[in-house]
Amino acid sequence: DYLEVNWDVTAAQKDGYPHFMIKEIHEQPTAITRTITPRIKDSLPYFEDDNIPDSFFEDISDITVVACGTAMYAGMVGKALLKNKFGIPVSVEIASEFRYEQPVLTDRSMVIFVSQSGETIDTLEALRLANKYTKKTLSIVNVKGSTIARESNYVLYTHAGPEIAVASTKAYTVQVASFYLIGCKLGLVSGRMTKEEAKTFIENLQEVPNLIESVITQAPEIEQLTKRMTNATNAFYIGRGLDYALSMEGALKLKEISYIHAEAYAAGELKHGTLALIVSGVPVIVLATQMDVYDKTVSNLQEVKAREAVVIAIGFEGDTSLEKYADHVIYIPRTDKYLAPLMAVLPLQLLAYYAALTRGCDV
Ligand code: F6R
Repeated sequence: DYLEVNWDVTAAQKDGYPHFMIKEIHEQPTAITRTITPRIKDSLPYFEDDNIPDSFFEDISDITVVACGTAMYAGMVGKALLKNKFGIPVSVEIASEFRYEQPVLTDRSMVIFVSQSGETIDTLEALRLANKYTKKTLSIVNVKGSTIARESNYVLYTHAGPEIAVASTKAYTVQVASFYLIGCKLGLVSGRMTKEEAKTFIENLQEVPNLIESVITQAPEIEQLTKRMTNATNAFYIGRGLDYALSMEGALKLKEISYIHAEAYAAGELKHGTLALIVSGVPVIVLATQMDVYDKTVSNLQEVKAREAVVIAIGFEGDTSLEKYADHVIYIPRTDKYLAPLMAVLPLQLLAYYAALTRGCDV
């Protein structure tokens, strides 16, 4: 037996970019295309080449997503999708907690493990525990033949190529993209989604790589913006719904490489104590892509602006009303509300990268 590793040496070189992180940020459109294309047939999710039968998605009572760090935050977006669009009970568990707790799982529980490396020990031990309760374990893994991939019942490989930067970027987007495919499959198999709805959703997903390119072209403006963050010791990321799920990843990225302390908050929760920390000059990144809660988010934006925060808002193109309240607005192309995190994550990654550079940190 042999295992063919489909990565080549050039994928592990910087290719003219100053850091692997920025190279990997730029690789995201390709990584998403490579991950989703083999899993789409006639605009519908297709897992036959992964040897995952439709029966795996049948009769699911609940889903638990287990992972660490960025991979867990990808699971947060997955949860917001699966729960809100398909009405499936989903919980996201930190692997290092899950593995020492008493799992509440039955043989109808699906447990999804997310890991770029496929070797994170807490995630692996959590998988070994879950395997005792259910056969419905699935991993979303980037490294072929890794331990988590081998020990889960089914595996969906992401095709991001080697991720060399310490801060995860392209692995996150392909993990999120995988959740959209899984969600669609679950929606179809359970009858919660019609074929027509699934096709529209998948076709919108296929547009994402092109749309992302236009977000990346805003890098120079985003670099300028980070000058407003150079002296910050604290920053906040706020949003509601999928925006909140994404804000956790944004905050982690900033902390990890720029060493600015950052916190993600559900926008509506800010007033329950934390607003006291929003003082003059504190950067607050407001994610405002979820239209059903848009007015609520904008009113939270006004609250932080009233306390003289430096507000950077991220919204859909054409939403110029954000400019009335925010100091800066970064626009992303309009898309399905569930797909917005795949695009809004780009400015967050770029903000973290350039903030780190501006502060002289080793990216
Ligand atoms: C953050 C980051 C980490 C990893 C986490 C899990 O940028 O890279 O939070 O996401 O350590 O690693 P994997 O995905 O390999 O299990």
